[in-house]
Amino acid sequence: MNTLTTKRLILREFTGMDWPAMYEIFSHPDVARYVYPMNEAQCRDWVTDKLKQQYSRKPIPTSRAVVLREEDRLIGYVQLAWPLGVGGGVPGQLALDYALHRSYWGRGYMSEAVRRMIRFAFETLDVPQLAAICETSNVASARMMEKAGMVYAQTFMKLERDLSETPYHRYEIDKARYEAEVRHGTIFD
Ligand SMILES: CC(C)(COP(=O)(O)OP(=O)(O)OC[C@H]1O[C@@H](n2cnc3c(N)ncnc32)[C@H](O)[C@@H]1OP(=O)(O)O)[C@@H](O)C(=O)NCCC(=O)NCCS
Repeated sequence: MNTLTTKRLILREFTGMDWPAMYEIFSHPDVARYVYPMNEAQCRDWVTDKLKQQYSRKPIPTSRAVVLREEDRLIGYVQLAWPLGVGGGVPGQLALDYALHRSYWGRGYMSEAVRRMIRFAFETLDVPQLAAICETSNVASARMMEKAGMVYAQTFMKLERDLSETPYHRYEIDKARYEAEVRHGTIFD
């Protein structure tokens, strides 16, 4: 199993037994507000999709279950995915997305996980740039991205599935910035 570690977390591949924990995460209203709402069957399909990607080892974009070492508990996910389809991205750019169990918010876990994924993306996958978007109302997500070394790029209107429009912020980090942050030692240890 392809595993990444941080001080407090293990970022591991998904297993078929993960869907109930993911459903618990996705079904909390504070999380569901910012990720696509899923019923149990959809959540099972979501995990199955991750298993298929892991099995085929392609495409490169990769998803990880976030496990809290201290409790040996799956508390979230973080993934690199194609593409944002919004604003002026660069070829090969990958999008980060993530969610954390509501009970574990505000303790720096996701910024720790995202920093590790950023390192993985630049040092192992050798992608040129990462981006992430969040609704402008999602202050925790925007702040988390800043803590993970990402830089505000733009605010734009995104067309939702129901054809309404919602304002989103877009954050980015490219390899040059990542390497500069590593040299300064402030964000990436
Ligand atoms: C976004 C999310 C993953 C953040 O996870 P997390 O582990 O709590 O994030 P961190 O603790 O690393 O950082 C959050 C930061 O936002 C800050 N924050 C949270 N809510 C805030 C608010 N309402 N106003 C100002 N700051 C806020 C926290 O204080 C923290 O900053 P600090 O350490 O400087 O104090 C989590 O809130 C989540 O799962 N949200 C629902 C799903 C989601 O939004 N996914 C992303 C879709 S774009």
